[in-house]
Amino acid sequence: MPRAHERTTIINTLPQLPPARLHIGGWIENSHNAEVRDPADTRNIVASAPRATRAQAIEAVQVAVRGSLEWRAVPAIQRGEVIRRASEIIAERAEQLAVAATLEMGKPIAESRGEAARAVEHARYFSTVGREAQGYTANLNEPDAQAFTLRSPIGVVSVITPWNFPIMIPNWKIAPALAHGNSVILKPAEVSPVTATLLVQCYLDAGVPASALSLLIGKSSEIGDVLLTAPEIAGVTFTGSTEVGRKISATAVGLGKRVQAEMGGKNALVIMDDANLDKALEAVMVGGFGTSGQRCTSSSRILVHEAVFEEVQRRLTEAVGQLRVGHGLTAGINAGPLASESALEDVMQGLERAVADGATVVAGGSRAEDSDLANGWFLQPTLLTGPATGAAFSEEIFGPIVSLHSIKDIDEAIRLNNEVEYGLSASIYTSNLEAANRFIFETDTGMVHVNRPTVGAEPHLPFGGSKASAIGPSELGAAHQFFTKTRSAHVRWKF
Ligand code: SIN
Repeated sequence: MPRAHERTTIINTLPQLPPARLHIGGWIENSHNAEVRDPADTRNIVASAPRATRAQAIEAVQVAVRGSLEWRAVPAIQRGEVIRRASEIIAERAEQLAVAATLEMGKPIAESRGEAARAVEHARYFSTVGREAQGYTANLNEPDAQAFTLRSPIGVVSVITPWNFPIMIPNWKIAPALAHGNSVILKPAEVSPVTATLLVQCYLDAGVPASALSLLIGKSSEIGDVLLTAPEIAGVTFTGSTEVGRKISATAVGLGKRVQAEMGGKNALVIMDDANLDKALEAVMVGGFGTSGQRCTSSSRILVHEAVFEEVQRRLTEAVGQLRVGHGLTAGINAGPLASESALEDVMQGLERAVADGATVVAGGSRAEDSDLANGWFLQPTLLTGPATGAAFSEEIFGPIVSLHSIKDIDEAIRLNNEVEYGLSASIYTSNLEAANRFIFETDTGMVHVNRPTVGAEPHLPFGGSKASAIGPSELGAAHQFFTKTRSAHVRWKF
């Protein structure tokens, strides 16, 4: 079996990260701490993560209730100024944030820098929403009267975020939550506590009141219940797996709270016989192997027209073999480790199921165990081919595994795209207008691309999915639907 090219690229001296801390009305040093290890070399302890207790979670909710009242009283345009300052501070501290993200979850530093830059862009976008039209006017069926609609904050919001984008995703929830006048309790992934601490510091330094933004680092088993069930929590926004998102939703919606859950994906990228193959293959490499395949929008299924299948397989096998696997802080690395031992285990099990279901490994397929790489959670970037059935085709295997499936025509591409339970993102590479438009209108995903990768998120456009990929309103450009309630005002001025 061909093996993806490996190089040993572990570095000797790691930058020191500042401590991770809790923030509940002020910064707190906690005595209950857990070690965070470098996923690229687990001999390195990169941080010590506090573990919030249940009592601290309850306290954070009380603080956030005060914060909600204080912050919503600030005029929306002034709140926007604070968010704009936060975007500037994130830009100033981008390198520190990027290094922390790479050390904690492993992605190559170039990707972490890109993530920090996107966080700046997202915060900048949300800094202006207070100046947008908030609703519309309407007539009432009576003299001297008029009605209008307005948006009000929903109150205290629990923000539960994953490790794959430890800067950008917490940021794209915190920024709109605050811009719309809510208070926030952030519970980041346990894997990335320092990155979360640094991000929260940016918002506090920009002028967000201490009571309006809390940070609870800890185990879901200890503090999760409070964040979902406390009567004072108005909404829960979550990004993570479909399994966890559905549990969160069942609990929180059952208690009358709003839920926004952005969950799994099994995103197809279609390559038709008339596609620009250079561009399509570039998109597979970025969308399939970027962030070691740990993106909700990763292109994990490539549906390739039979006329170009052989060429696509040959060229991708070559490109996958040229990926440089190693420590994310080493220059030139474009394939980091999986974020944790459990992430690697899950991916290895998914790979085993895929092979048992009939997939053939054409590149990679095992742990990268040469020399120092054996001390990290590395899987060789892996290319599979096989039937359009089984785990490779339909399961979200959150790792650097891409499978190729042959298709005969656009009808089959659309049918196979829609056959899986997920519906987050999809893409088609073609120069045929009819095929492109049929793909847009007949597929069922929240985001659909033509001649573009499946990955990416624009601040002013909705980010979300259909079917098992999402619950509740979309994020980013549609964030106001979750973070505000629309009300109607009915006014008579002669009485
Ligand atoms: C994600 O896929 O998890 C975030 C969106 C992206 O940048 O691809």
